[in-house]
Amino acid sequence: MKFRFTAVAVAAALFGIAQPSFAADISISASSTGKNLDLLRKQLDAFEKETGNKVSIVTMPSSSTEQFSQYRLWLAAGNQDVDVYQTDVIWAPQLAEQFLDLKDAAKDVVGDFFPSIIASQTVNDRLVALPLYTDAPAFFYRKDLLDKYGKQPPKTWDEMAATAKEIQEKERAAGQKDLWGYVFQGNAYEGLTCDALEWIKSSGGGQIVETDGSISINNEKAAAAIERAKGWVGTISPSGVLAYQEEESRGVWQTGNAVFMRNWPYAYSLGNGADSAVKGKFDVTTLPVAAEGDQPSSTLGGWNLAVSKYSKSPDAAVALVKFLTSKESQKQRAIELSNLPTLQALYDDKDVAAAQPFMPNWKPIFQNAVPRPSATTKVKYNEVSSKFWTAVHNTLSGSGTAAENLELLEAELTTLKGDSW
Ligand code: GLC
Repeated sequence: MKFRFTAVAVAAALFGIAQPSFAADISISASSTGKNLDLLRKQLDAFEKETGNKVSIVTMPSSSTEQFSQYRLWLAAGNQDVDVYQTDVIWAPQLAEQFLDLKDAAKDVVGDFFPSIIASQTVNDRLVALPLYTDAPAFFYRKDLLDKYGKQPPKTWDEMAATAKEIQEKERAAGQKDLWGYVFQGNAYEGLTCDALEWIKSSGGGQIVETDGSISINNEKAAAAIERAKGWVGTISPSGVLAYQEEESRGVWQTGNAVFMRNWPYAYSLGNGADSAVKGKFDVTTLPVAAEGDQPSSTLGGWNLAVSKYSKSPDAAVALVKFLTSKESQKQRAIELSNLPTLQALYDDKDVAAAQPFMPNWKPIFQNAVPRPSATTKVKYNEVSSKFWTAVHNTLSGSGTAAENLELLEAELTTLKGDSW
């Protein structure tokens, strides 16, 4: 953005030393989830020291949906105040035109990343973002409570609900009045699309829009999966779960008030933090399925770094993206924030495995995770997702049955699709 003469640059100019002649002031937008911003600031300080550039953070709300709306407005207006954007894995096809192609700049490192993640950020042969971390949710369970009641981590959703109910009732009778069986993300936003896709896919109900573009959502298995989840609300899950995003679920969990939680890996290191009531008392496994034999399903998430095409300091911005996605930075992110690396080598790293024992096991889980239909529905993805989460949220809150809402959704998606996605 703005250029500043630094001591180094002035010295370089005076003595003819080959140094970049000025340093840049740039900014990065990033979500405030968990301790994301604390670590980011630490890494930015290191980048500043190394390069002489200055970087400020534009703090964003946690919600992917809110970030997307804001970014879309800023980018449409050609905003020059943000140089680097932290972007959700699903946005690449929708925002591609507004970001620089990083292919040349990243050609020395691109082969170190998982090819599938690079592919998710490649649109019309342009690499529109470099992967910062990937995401595949975990089923968090309280080891201490399962042991106390002689239970195993549940394999099916019904087993989950039955165990949650039993432990909730018994613990409440013993004085744990605030204990709930299960917390998840039930708010009407992108997170609900992720949760509901898992309920449906793990029940054999497809993935909303299939990779061939067909709209599959209006089917009995999908409807049954959503009705099942409706049965949790107000029984094993607080009614307030209909307004929960990731951080609200984590709040209940981390104060020791839930037996089970669906959340992303970032909640693992926070749950084991010094200030956590569940430190050392929990473990993670894959999410349940509808019936033995069904495939466990996790929605593929993840965040990337993109450079705005309106940036006035694209070189410094690209350098920052490479710095933050480097092996050293990602290793620190994995150890401190339990974010899943996007570099293959870090899954064999001893320090990472020691700090986050679940992590090596998560490699096959994110590699088999189910993508949301963003590559298929391209620029219409946000509308597809918002119509989907609305249908699910309506059902969970008692406005129409799943069958009715999915029939309506199918009609809306068919109109939205038109001749093709
Ligand atoms: C996580 C995922 C992201 C997803 C979001 C939904 O941040 O990484 O891909 O869209 O959750 O809330």
